Amino acid sequence: MKSYKRGWLLLVGILVMLSSPHSQAFWGNENKIKTAVFLSPKFVLGPGSVENRFYYNIDFPKGHIALKSFNAEVIDEAGNPVPLHETYLHHWVVARYFLRKGVEVSDLNDRKKLTSSDYISARNSGICQRDALGQYYGLGSETRKTATHVPDPYGIEVGNPAEIPDGFEEKWLLNVHAIDTRGVEDKLGCTECKCDLYNVTEDEYGRPLRPDYKGGLLCCYDHTQCRVKQGFEDVRRNLYLRYTVKWVDMDTSVVPVKVYIFDITDGWKRSSNSTGMNSEHSCKVEYEIEPCRATELADNGCIDTRRISLDMPFGGYVIYGVAHQHAGGSGSALYREDGQLLCSSIPAYGDGEEVGNEAGYIVGMTTCYPQPGTVKISKGETLILESNYSSIRHHTGVMGLFYILVADEPPKPMNTLYTLVQSQTQDSIILLTILWAGVALMGIVTVIAVAIRYKLKREREDGYEAIMM
Ligand SMILES: *[C@@H]1O[C@H](CO)[C@@H](O)[C@H](O)[C@H]1NC(C)=O
Ligand SMILES: *[C@@H]1O[C@H](CO)[C@@H](O)[C@H](O)[C@H]1NC(C)=O
Ligand SMILES: *[C@@H]1O[C@H](CO)[C@@H](O)[C@H](O)[C@H]1NC(C)=O
Repeated sequence: MKSYKRGWLLLVGILVMLSSPHSQAFWGNENKIKTAVFLSPKFVLGPGSVENRFYYNIDFPKGHIALKSFNAEVIDEAGNPVPLHETYLHHWVVARYFLRKGVEVSDLNDRKKLTSSDYISARNSGICQRDALGQYYGLGSETRKTATHVPDPYGIEVGNPAEIPDGFEEKWLLNVHAIDTRGVEDKLGCTECKCDLYNVTEDEYGRPLRPDYKGGLLCCYDHTQCRVKQGFEDVRRNLYLRYTVKWVDMDTSVVPVKVYIFDITDGWKRSSNSTGMNSEHSCKVEYEIEPCRATELADNGCIDTRRISLDMPFGGYVIYGVAHQHAGGSGSALYREDGQLLCSSIPAYGDGEEVGNEAGYIVGMTTCYPQPGTVKISKGETLILESNYSSIRHHTGVMGLFYILVADEPPKPMNTLYTLVQSQTQDSIILLTILWAGVALMGIVTVIAVAIRYKLKREREDGYEAIMM
């Protein structure tokens, strides 16, 4: 088992290096991209059931590093990816926190008992209110086909000892919200957490829901059950979120980027004394799309368009952007006040049965990678966030988030001492390239050897054995 795992990780590592678009990291820069693959704790789902768990102190790269990407998917006990029409990944969220050394926290209830003298949420850079949308990463069904990599020389800096309060440690938590829709009466309804399908009239804490609350997170909390077709039965199964993190060690060649999240449900309004600070925001995370009237279909195709204005309490250069929407979403965008488009992110829907192409589900979002240095936001500037959904039918619990990564500095100009020095080291770079090519070749040979050994070994053993256990 152990050696499979190592062989597999090696294979992944080498493939990653070979296919890495960040060739700089490969061709001689000692700041190489590292990759690790982790499994979340196990969760168990049967037809119609829901898991919404918070896992504290998850496996995560340690040290003073810069994150380059984060990808995830749900797999079963055998390591096989599970399609969205069986296990719908409503969302996963990865957040950072500081915990006093010696204090333990294993679930949400534990954490709620802790005061800020023991537990400090180390949230992203904004802009929602204190308790909302503080994550570093978070996506849902679109995870498999949504790019998250941060181009060189940028990275999301974490683990900076100077930032961690004395006596505390930096840790990470993972929230996974998954809904098993095998055999349910209404797959879309279950994924949209329609309260009647869950037979829920009170929230998780026993508080009655507003009568007009038709669906959303308050109705599909942990251990709720969506209505299954009469007589349908299937096994409960063990599932994991498998997540892949890439990072580089932090050094002076890495330019840090900050994570900002905008939410279309943010009730922020400019007031005469507005500072745009967190406390003035009210991000509600989810909203509802009322169905259009038949007459509207011809007029506007029944698109629900929401737009909000937000003043930016920060400035900098946009390096990356992506939106998060649910099924029914048709795109989201960020504009300047004069209408100039800064970034749009459009969902891709699947049209098959296989993993990564599930019909009717959002299986990917397009992303923005502006040429670094070209898209600058000025502090205090007003931006417009837009989120579109089809309103042909009623949707509950939809979302309209927009993530951007922002750098303080533009990329270094080319005509500097740096380029002079670099041109003089051209020869050594060529030498390094040849060396690396050699190493890569050896890597390929190793991969083939490992693969052959693995295949032989597998053929010798009976049946299938999971790679990741
Ligand atoms: C719905 O919940 C109520 C109590 O909350 C219960 O009496 C009823 O049997 C439930 N219905 C179904 C179909 O589970
Ligand atoms: C600033 O605005 C907030 C509302 O956003 C208000 O509660 C507060 O009293 C105002 N402060 C001053 C000094 O006007
Ligand atoms: C949203 O819909 C409006 C029309 O209602 C359209 O003008 C706009 O381009 C759409 N935006 C995106 C990002 O799809």
